[in-house]
Amino acid sequence: MRATIGAMTSTPQAAVAHEADDVAPAVANLETIVSLAKRRGFVFPSSEIYGGINAVWDYGPLGVELKNNVKRAWWKAMVQERDDIVGLDAGILMAPQVWVTSGHVAEFSDPMVECSTDRRRFRVDELPGAEDLSPAELMDPGIVARLGLKCPVDGGPLSAPRRFNLMFQTWMGPVQDDASLIYLRPETAQGIYVNFKNVRETSRKKLPFGIAQIGKAFRNEISPGNFVFRMREFEQMEMQYFVHPAAAAEQFEAWRDRRMAWYEGYGVSKSRLRFREHRAAELAHYAKRAVDVEYRFPFGWKELEGIHSRGDFDLSRHAAASGENLEYFDPATEEHYIPWIVETSAGGDRAPFTFLIDAYREEEVRGETRVVLALHPQLAPYKVAVLPLLKKRPEIVELCHRIKSDLQRDIMAVYDDTASIGKLYRRQDEIGTPWCITVDVESLEDGAVTIRDRDTMTQERVPREGVRRFIMDRLSGAG
Ligand code: GAP
Repeated sequence: MRATIGAMTSTPQAAVAHEADDVAPAVANLETIVSLAKRRGFVFPSSEIYGGINAVWDYGPLGVELKNNVKRAWWKAMVQERDDIVGLDAGILMAPQVWVTSGHVAEFSDPMVECSTDRRRFRVDELPGAEDLSPAELMDPGIVARLGLKCPVDGGPLSAPRRFNLMFQTWMGPVQDDASLIYLRPETAQGIYVNFKNVRETSRKKLPFGIAQIGKAFRNEISPGNFVFRMREFEQMEMQYFVHPAAAAEQFEAWRDRRMAWYEGYGVSKSRLRFREHRAAELAHYAKRAVDVEYRFPFGWKELEGIHSRGDFDLSRHAAASGENLEYFDPATEEHYIPWIVETSAGGDRAPFTFLIDAYREEEVRGETRVVLALHPQLAPYKVAVLPLLKKRPEIVELCHRIKSDLQRDIMAVYDDTASIGKLYRRQDEIGTPWCITVDVESLEDGAVTIRDRDTMTQERVPREGVRRFIMDRLSGAG
């Protein structure tokens, strides 16, 4: 199996909207981003030297910086800046009873059909003509004939739908039998629910309060694809907010709006973000209400994050199945109750992917195309590149290294002298470095350096001692 990776070069098309009332994506062709990601070391196909493995991607040196910055920005907004939310890092492997109680063993499945000629499998709800069907209709044995559904690849006949559970299974311990069967978690949320009591007691939090977690999740997706959009191993950034039942509706709306503002605050264009409320028939088994934050990807409007009102479903079920009392006692009202949960569930891969796509620009500069990633400075992999105008002058190179080392104590900074200054600027533009510092012969005389801004390309002369303050002020001012 070879993971699909785009061609190394691509001719970007003008971004056009699909429908009259639709907005154009930031990048018309996904291949443009896939190619940039590979070429510049953001994302590689997993196990590529063995031909790749489908739906798993590896983050390269720049990708891991971007991803870490996105996770840090999320943690800052969801934990650091909130007195009412604390963090958690639960195990990927959990007691298998967790997944029975949560409903995942019985319900976490997609309706799947198989083509009888090429044996390809498809999610029924992703076949043209079946996108808007309810869960019951998707499993209707006569649905293929009724809608005339065919294999989208070779037009072959499709089987009746059957359920395909998305959880990966493995065995714990030396014996591989039913008793040792366990699952790789398909969401991080359950680790939070089973730790609700531990966290509340040790952190002495009163309701409403939240628990946040970032971590890997695994789903054996039937139709993964669109690069890192739908993978089989991915990360989630989830927060579960525990509230009084009467406050759930208001908290749901507050969290929905805060999560949208977070994407906008880090620079995603408002016009390419929207909410989509789930219809009653498409709600997940645990949800009372659900709204997706959607982004206009090059392949259409798709879910970026889900905000779910889960009621008391999770804690009630875990309390009943485990025998543990998961009620909350409010000393002010002397009320005992199972808290309701408002969940914000973001993608630790979809978010960086979105920032990457939305930041992509192509501009004409003096007859040449300049590719720029206009990433928010706090998300950019490198904040600063330090470049010598003359690499043959040891005093210039030495000053560059001193400036870079000084900055490296606080931020990601890089030195590069492997091309002409014009090419070095273009390279840094393409990976989104907000500031380039150039040291020239004059710097040796006047002790000043040139700082070039990625977006405006304006250059400013700054005394060497003022460089650190200049960068740090702009970085903190940016967000
Ligand atoms: N705990 C609720 C939950 O897991 P979800 O809508 O299934 O809800 C939440 O997933 C988020 O996780 C999605 O909005 C998406 O960003 C990310 N996600 C889900 N499946 C994914 C996959 N196969 N690949 C990459 N990201 C995925």
